[in-house]
Amino acid sequence: TEDHLRHIESLATFPSGAGKISHLRATNLGECLSSEEHDLVFPTPEFSDKALVPSTEKYLEMYRRSVRDPAGFWGDIAAEFYWKEKWDCEKVCSENLDVRKGTVEIEWFKGGKTNICFNALDRIVDNGDGDKVALYWEGNVPGLDDKLTYKELLDKVCQLSNYLKDVGVKKGDAVVIYLPMLAELPISMLACARIGAVHSVVFAGFSAESLAQRIIDCKPNVVITCNAVLRGDKPILLKNIVDQAITQSADNGVSVDLCLTYENQSAMKKEATKWQADRDIWWQDVVPKYPNTCLVEWVDAEDPLFLLYTSGSTGKPKGVLHTTGGYMVYAATTFKYAFDYKPSDVYWCTADCGWITGHSYVSYGPLLNGASVVIFEGAPNYPDSGRCWDIVDKYNVTIFYTAPTLVRSLMREKNEYVTRYSRKSLRVLGSVGEPINPSAWRWFYNIVGDSRCPISDTWWQTETGGFMITPLPGSWPQKPGSATFPFFGVQPVIVDEKGNEIEGECSGYLCVKNSWPGAFRTLYGDHDRYETTYFKPFPGYYFSGDGCSRDGDGYYWLTGRVDDVINVSGHRIGTAEVESALVLHPQCVEAAVVGVEHEVKGQGIYAFVTLVDGVTYSEELRKSLILSVRNQIGAFAAPDKIHWAPGLPKTRSGKIMRRILRKIASRQLEELGDISTLADPAVVDQLIALSDC
Ligand code: WTA
Repeated sequence: TEDHLRHIESLATFPSGAGKISHLRATNLGECLSSEEHDLVFPTPEFSDKALVPSTEKYLEMYRRSVRDPAGFWGDIAAEFYWKEKWDCEKVCSENLDVRKGTVEIEWFKGGKTNICFNALDRIVDNGDGDKVALYWEGNVPGLDDKLTYKELLDKVCQLSNYLKDVGVKKGDAVVIYLPMLAELPISMLACARIGAVHSVVFAGFSAESLAQRIIDCKPNVVITCNAVLRGDKPILLKNIVDQAITQSADNGVSVDLCLTYENQSAMKKEATKWQADRDIWWQDVVPKYPNTCLVEWVDAEDPLFLLYTSGSTGKPKGVLHTTGGYMVYAATTFKYAFDYKPSDVYWCTADCGWITGHSYVSYGPLLNGASVVIFEGAPNYPDSGRCWDIVDKYNVTIFYTAPTLVRSLMREKNEYVTRYSRKSLRVLGSVGEPINPSAWRWFYNIVGDSRCPISDTWWQTETGGFMITPLPGSWPQKPGSATFPFFGVQPVIVDEKGNEIEGECSGYLCVKNSWPGAFRTLYGDHDRYETTYFKPFPGYYFSGDGCSRDGDGYYWLTGRVDDVINVSGHRIGTAEVESALVLHPQCVEAAVVGVEHEVKGQGIYAFVTLVDGVTYSEELRKSLILSVRNQIGAFAAPDKIHWAPGLPKTRSGKIMRRILRKIASRQLEELGDISTLADPAVVDQLIALSDC
């Protein structure tokens, strides 16, 4: 810890300065960084003066305390929330991250009794902010909108909580939520939390297969959905997808008794919806009849709050489990500091609640701070590429948080789409999901933010619950493309292949050497896999799966996944999942999927497929292979390229050499390396010859 502090403290020697992008410094940062990445972008004094953490010195003081005295640091913050019973003050945190010393176990605020819904709604209303807008809902079609104050949101949540209790949902039961970005999505999450039920939100872009897989894993009695949603002009019949998923689950012995369906009138009328009367019920027919007050179920800090499935290196998605107390404190605190949140802010995060970003930074984090949150049902380029800035001006958004893929796609259009809107309300910008390349960073900074809004490039994961490495705007100069420094209480380390920590300027694997309140506690039903995936690769540490380098100033630069996970438009996809989907196609015998660089999506999906003997590759087959992935996972996982592979490069023991496939996919043919260990080196030439097939 002391070494770590010394290293972090070296940053106290920053040159002071203010203004736009400056070229004050050029250090030798090693091969992975190009020279344009050496800029330091200083916050303006006007911004820093008002910032929650106004200087590097203040950050250091807080950071130092957070690692030397985590109990004191986090205990003080937690005390700002409502606890029915206080946690064991001696032991705010107990952790074992070292598999060699026994089971990995993390607990924060154990013994404390609280409720995250109470803290996000009742506490805000009780503090006199009941009339403040909690949610601004912006529909897919411009002009369709709605808003809910904290009091109104609380009423709606209580009605749904009462209903869920009435149909038998109890503390600890799982509820699956498959909804688009309607206010009913956060309402459903909060209603579950209020009664101690565990929500499992499934992104409404997942297919029936994927939804069924998640239902089978967590066995809910109730699924909450809506009849349909419009994506652009196109209606997506979500209820039909749920019907299929429920049928499939039943075939696997898991029955869902109740499908609570919200009528999303703007997309589809009730009458057109397929219905199974003994199982389906319209939300609008029942929920509004329930009382708008509902007693809170006080839960232990370590009781589960939600499950969220995410992709890993191997086939089956993992049910990441977050618990209540630590997650609550962490989501709220990271939100507050990383966005320099002020009560007058209007905050908009473009993520969907189906992903972790929507859990921590659409729903819980902002609401726990009493923020006014914009949620948007539609697509950012509908009806045209100016929609985001139209929404920013409409609600006077001050904090805008999005993914690099959106920035890159808008950057390809004329700047006029941006500049025709005022955007003067904007104060802080944010980025998440994948590394933001410096040129996208600059466009975001200069064009969207008019060179005056700091960008919080937040590095974190489904597993971490909240930000881990992130700028604190106003506190220190930024470097385009760097997530900068660790959040309070987080001790990141970079290790080599053997798991040795490397000091100073270096590149390696990103690990964390202590626990933080928002850390996930297990993979649902599979603690062994939790230990194997995250704690065994580098014993003593949490392993993130990401590569990272640190420059001479101590800034962290995330370089992408080092495992078989790819980040496509900020969506995390396991190559193994795509491969399984492809081999389910009757004409495909084997598949190997790799990520390739993609101008807009960050990474694209590149699939090598071996066909059943005698089958010839055709355009029609290509389409039906892609369809297989869409059906198994969802449209967002559709391969960008299918490469017909009569044979795959394998070692003599039969292992596919992905390193070679990656080079072929990215056309780096001069870097194929040693292929002599292949069982049949001739397949490489064959593959290259078929590249443009
Ligand atoms: C990547 C999303 C670089 C990273 C919150 C991580 C990032 C994975 C950043 C987690 C960032 C996320 N810079 N890479 N600012 N943020 N990532 O679980 O590879 O969907 O491991 O959580 O996204 O994706 P997940």
